[in-house]
Amino acid sequence: MNELNIDYSKMAIRERICLVEKICIIHPLFKGTLDKIRECHECSKYSAEPKCILITGPSGAGKTTISRHYVSQFPRQTSEEGTIIPVLFSTISVPATVKNVASGLLYSMGDPMAHKGTTYNKTLRLYKLIKYCAVKLIILDEFQHFIDRDSDKVLQVVSDWLKVLLDETNIPMILIGMPKSVEILLANEQLQRRFSTRKELSPFSYKTPEQQDDFRKFLKILESKLPLMEQSYLYAADTSFRFFFATNGIISKVMKIVRKATVLALEQKLEKLTMDILAQAYDYEIASKEFIVENPFNENIDKLLNSSNKETPQTVKATNRRIKAKKKEENISNILSIS
Ligand SMILES: Nc1ncnc2c1ncn2[C@@H]1O[C@H](COP(=O)(O)OP(=O)(O)OP(=O)(O)O)[C@@H](O)[C@H]1O
Ligand SMILES: [Mg+2]
Repeated sequence: MNELNIDYSKMAIRERICLVEKICIIHPLFKGTLDKIRECHECSKYSAEPKCILITGPSGAGKTTISRHYVSQFPRQTSEEGTIIPVLFSTISVPATVKNVASGLLYSMGDPMAHKGTTYNKTLRLYKLIKYCAVKLIILDEFQHFIDRDSDKVLQVVSDWLKVLLDETNIPMILIGMPKSVEILLANEQLQRRFSTRKELSPFSYKTPEQQDDFRKFLKILESKLPLMEQSYLYAADTSFRFFFATNGIISKVMKIVRKATVLALEQKLEKLTMDILAQAYDYEIASKEFIVENPFNENIDKLLNSSNKETPQTVKATNRRIKAKKKEENISNILSIS
């Protein structure tokens, strides 16, 4: 049964599809990132110098989702006296000029005149609003936009502007971006000193038994949140390997496949995700877009294991042994004892 023992069969299909879209999983591996954000946030109460952190990870690793999840725990409070914004989240636009970044922050605060005024004017308005709205943490997403795409150069003026924003407001800041964001800090000594704490949000790996269990645990949590009435055993050794093969552990790809598969299952009046449904979802969401012919959900598992990354033969062999042994011996639901 599902996590909350809800009878989803009584719900309209559309309602159930909405539930799939909203799934957000806080896997133990993501907790480390959340803890780092919380640390910065809480230190704003006592620290002389704001504690700042750079969080990097490849596209689809879940950076934005995890940070938005954190922000959602600190809702804005509006009263007659004004609005309190405990955590300010903003996305750095392109081109990342000072004017645009300042406008973006003002817009995120709800300033109806966010795009109006000179750069200097906007900056002063931002300082005032940050104080007035009692902002205690600033999160800036897409930090890699501080590197100009055409010239590949770090935009120094806006980097310096950010450093001054930090000094003037004395509020901790979380920067989020693709791995190359590190280059921006390397090019600006003063910013680098302020962001000496780094955290990497990597995709799942499948090299060691522990990593395989982490990925399977993620699939188990995911399955428990699906609005379906029967178990799909996504975390079974065979299926989880197919998932890893299909996604390289990138969470956005896992979610795409599972979301599409759930829609297909509901349309076909099924209450679980079968291998056939997963194969259809993979074809629709991944194979057709990335021009891949092989479908890991309807391939022979041994063929998959043989064709998987030759650079990590131990992984493949270890996984092969694990899967074969477990396939023989146990009821699939008992393969992984996850509480
Ligand atoms: N913890 C999670 N639980 C459920 N779904 C997630 C989670 N993390 C990411 N996703 C899903 O994966 C997709 C991509 O996530 P997200 O936008 O957070 O990645 P990102 O690392 O910010 O990528 P990019 O660098 O391209 O902006 C989203 O559709 C989101 O729903
Ligand atoms: Mg993102």
